Amino acid sequence: MKGCKPIAALTAYDYPMARMLDECGVPLLLVGDSLGMVVLGLPDTTGVKMADMEHHTRAAARAQPNALLAADLPKGSYGNVETAVANARRLVDAGAEAVKAEGGLSIRPQIEAIVAEGIPFLGHIGMLPQNVHVEGGYRVKGKTDDELEGIIRDAEALVEAGAFSVVLELVAPAVAARITREIPIPTIGIGSGTDCDGQILVTTDLWATSPDYIPRHVQPNMQVPIEMRQAVGDWMKSFKTIETQELKRD
Ligand code: KIV
Repeated sequence: MKGCKPIAALTAYDYPMARMLDECGVPLLLVGDSLGMVVLGLPDTTGVKMADMEHHTRAAARAQPNALLAADLPKGSYGNVETAVANARRLVDAGAEAVKAEGGLSIRPQIEAIVAEGIPFLGHIGMLPQNVHVEGGYRVKGKTDDELEGIIRDAEALVEAGAFSVVLELVAPAVAARITREIPIPTIGIGSGTDCDGQILVTTDLWATSPDYIPRHVQPNMQVPIEMRQAVGDWMKSFKTIETQELKRD
């Protein structure tokens, strides 16, 4: 799709979500480890385990989407080649058609080994949420020369290792545009400006149902929680009325 059509990608964490997004024609669905925050109530993605990712991947895969279904390798699950391949295989056994991990040059051997196993690999560079404690927060990457060179090296390493696409998270827009021009695989941006080959969002941010925090780069154009609260409130009122009616009858 690179150069032909903008690529839309969204996160899906369970069967109904994957079904609905697939019905909308979204071509790439990601069982993201963001589920730690928006589904499991964790403060960030660092506490997400392989068992969590397998559980949610299995649920999303039951939708049998036409979309490509990718799943995240969580923090600590791809520290060396053997564990990376074994855990990528576990996600595939749970129903993923591709896996994603965070990093470029530093995990090149793991990516090469995963690709050599025949498992399609989606890269993720720029701000790496699994490193949020080391980095001290979520901030835009690529503003200094050092960061710029690092991100370009990571993008090149991903291409050479055989990644089919790369997520650019919170990359300075000019840097994201340059990478998009220079590498042959599609770039999927999140908070990285408009000049990527595609865009990805945490779906609950788009719906404004993420419980704690909606990042600045997302402007939900509807407030689903207002309708949800309305439905719950109306339902509660409806059975109060039934009770009152029954009391009156008695
Ligand atoms: O975990 C996730 O949802 C992600 C996307 C935001 C790219 O990695």
